[in-house]
Amino acid sequence: MKIIERAITLLLEGELVAIPTETVYGLGADAKNPAAVQKVFTVKGRPTTNPLIIHLPNWDAMTDWAIDIPDSAYQLAKAFWPGPLTLILKRHPSVPKIVTGGQDTVALRVPNHPLTLELLERFKGGIAAPSANRYGRISPTTAEHVREELGDAVSYILDGGPCQIGIESTIVYLAGDNPFILRQGSILKRQILNVTQSNFDTNNLYKPIRDSLSEEISTFAAIITPGSSTSHYAPVHPLFLLKKEQLFKMLLQSIRTQKKAVVLSFTKKPEFLNFFNQTVGEKPDSYEKTKDIQWLNFSNDATSAAQQLYHQLRTLDKLKPDYILIEEPPDTEEWLAIRDRLFRAASPHSF
Ligand code: TXA
Ligand code: MG
Repeated sequence: MKIIERAITLLLEGELVAIPTETVYGLGADAKNPAAVQKVFTVKGRPTTNPLIIHLPNWDAMTDWAIDIPDSAYQLAKAFWPGPLTLILKRHPSVPKIVTGGQDTVALRVPNHPLTLELLERFKGGIAAPSANRYGRISPTTAEHVREELGDAVSYILDGGPCQIGIESTIVYLAGDNPFILRQGSILKRQILNVTQSNFDTNNLYKPIRDSLSEEISTFAAIITPGSSTSHYAPVHPLFLLKKEQLFKMLLQSIRTQKKAVVLSFTKKPEFLNFFNQTVGEKPDSYEKTKDIQWLNFSNDATSAAQQLYHQLRTLDKLKPDYILIEEPPDTEEWLAIRDRLFRAASPHSF
């Protein structure tokens, strides 16, 4: 295929190519070319201490990039690759340190997208790729989003259509004595435990986000996964993550104070807002604002909600609102990855 040849040529020349994956689009560079990898950090505006994931064509390739690979890594790779799982392993000495942010561990993943798998198989190397957004911003889930984020800074965008999963991969740390989940994703803790069974200490495997994050792991995660710091996945305009009742309070408050609010919620847009629209003139001016209220709904199904999430955030952000009001999703395992993204996107406005 012509487009894949073009992508390979550019990668070999040390250029950046945006690649589609099932999770989000990546900003790819030849992982063995330090100058190309440096460009990724520059274009994203990302600190070079924040390591990149290396994308591989298959699990056999793990041994080229990692050493002392535990059995659990093979079990997980065979069960979930190609797919939305990233494994942190001990770094092979041949991996340029710039890719791993100077650390002795390396993040590996085989993405599940036909174009990118074909690219990887034919390229033969590894492609280092973070999400193709500016540092701290919303990850792109279409080629158009990548264009909006990076413009001409990326030589080529391999357009593979909208991403099927829509949020970044689950990251499992396997380079130490205690494996644990560093980033929530669509592969859940129980699926990981099903595969690894007795190899993993259940209590240690998973430490929930923010409020329940143990201090020890929290500090650790902040050091080894700098991307897990707060204020991430963030829109430009202030985002508030609220329980339903609080959301309505803040909405009414914003109407009263003539502020522009937009909403992402499980609840349908209430009729009374339309009523105010129809009766503009008899009501104070502020009610006219209600017709500006862009109201999007979450899917009740966490999988579809994840797929739409970043697109919805971008849509709301583009309206240049004073407030983006988002209803907090349920505190259940299915919604954990979405809650994690929203808590970080909301920081520091909701806390
Ligand atoms: O779904 C995904 O994982 C997407 C697609 C493109 O594959 N990639 C992605 O990359 O989300 P990025 O760079 O946006 O997020 C990767 C996270 C960062 O928080 C980084 O700090 C962490 O993985 N990471 C990478 N290498 C690591 C390592 N050796 N140790 C700990 N954390 C690591
Ligand atoms: Mg990212």
